Amino acid sequence: MQYLPNDPVRLTDDKTAILAIDQRALPSETKYLELRNAAAVAEAIRTLAVRGAPCIGICAAYGVYVAACAHMQEEKNTFSAHLDADAAVIASARPTAVNLSWAVNRMLQCKGRHLAESPAEITEALRTEAETIHAEDIDMCRRIAENGLRLLPEGSRVITHCNAGALATSRYGTGLGPLLLGAERGMTFHAFVDETRPLLQGARLTAYELHRAGIDTTLMCDNMASYLMAQGGITACMVGCDRVAANGDTANKIGTSGLAVLAQHYGVPFYVFCPSPTIDRSCKTGADIRIEQREGDEITHLHFAKPVAPAGIRCLNPAFDITPASLITAIITETGILYPPFAF
Ligand code: MRU
Repeated sequence: MQYLPNDPVRLTDDKTAILAIDQRALPSETKYLELRNAAAVAEAIRTLAVRGAPCIGICAAYGVYVAACAHMQEEKNTFSAHLDADAAVIASARPTAVNLSWAVNRMLQCKGRHLAESPAEITEALRTEAETIHAEDIDMCRRIAENGLRLLPEGSRVITHCNAGALATSRYGTGLGPLLLGAERGMTFHAFVDETRPLLQGARLTAYELHRAGIDTTLMCDNMASYLMAQGGITACMVGCDRVAANGDTANKIGTSGLAVLAQHYGVPFYVFCPSPTIDRSCKTGADIRIEQREGDEITHLHFAKPVAPAGIRCLNPAFDITPASLITAIITETGILYPPFAF
């Protein structure tokens, strides 16, 4: 994969900090953040410097490791208590993507297995565990891309929403994986990219990734999908996900469910790409998934030179919505292509 300089999150060469691409600055600047403690990791996730469900999970795992580095000289009980507190800070950064709590819990289980050892040895075990989570994600993304490519014939014309590419994961991504893998093999596609209001992950990140990968890419505003589908010729919608309930109801970036309603209306297949850590069996349906609510200034100010709404206006800004399983044609995981009825 030549089109991104590196994985969006990794350890520094001396393994004392996380080196993260600051996704807020893309596409105009490629800047890196060095995250050295739990507060910095939580802040990077909360502000979407690091974002995308799998990438958040990887960052959280490395975050528990760098927190352990920061406490390594402490007496073991103090080390353990401080690490638990730091893990809680990281886990609470954002509520919807289950990969965050999944990764933090896995790191705490690792700590539990090594509790008889010294803080330095526990820290070393945590580094290995975080690197394993990272390596597993690379492998899952590759398998998801291979599976998804079976649904994507040469010349496919697809709509995608938000960013489920390399920046949101490692290497191939999930929702963009089949496009990126197919392009590598010389296939041609046309991708229509929803800009994804209000934080513009589609315009800033997906258009950037697909364009750099040499894929024929057209950017459009979110409210143009119906116009495009009505013209015919769209062969699929492809999106990632932040949490999938046991019945297949799927939380993903706000606007995803609207796209799924349109896809059903126009007879376009709607595909969700999902690594297994994003499945949350403790949620029976989408109604059990907590939706993050964010500040209104993301709508009125953030990406504009001047405010585009009257000062003090009340805003509604849910970051995600639930696509009912009934609107999903297939869920593609690293193990295969699943068709309804979904039962995880
Ligand atoms: O708020 P974000 O940018 O973290 O939202 C990301 C998404 O909604 C992605 O589609 C999802 O995390 C899947 S990433 C493979």
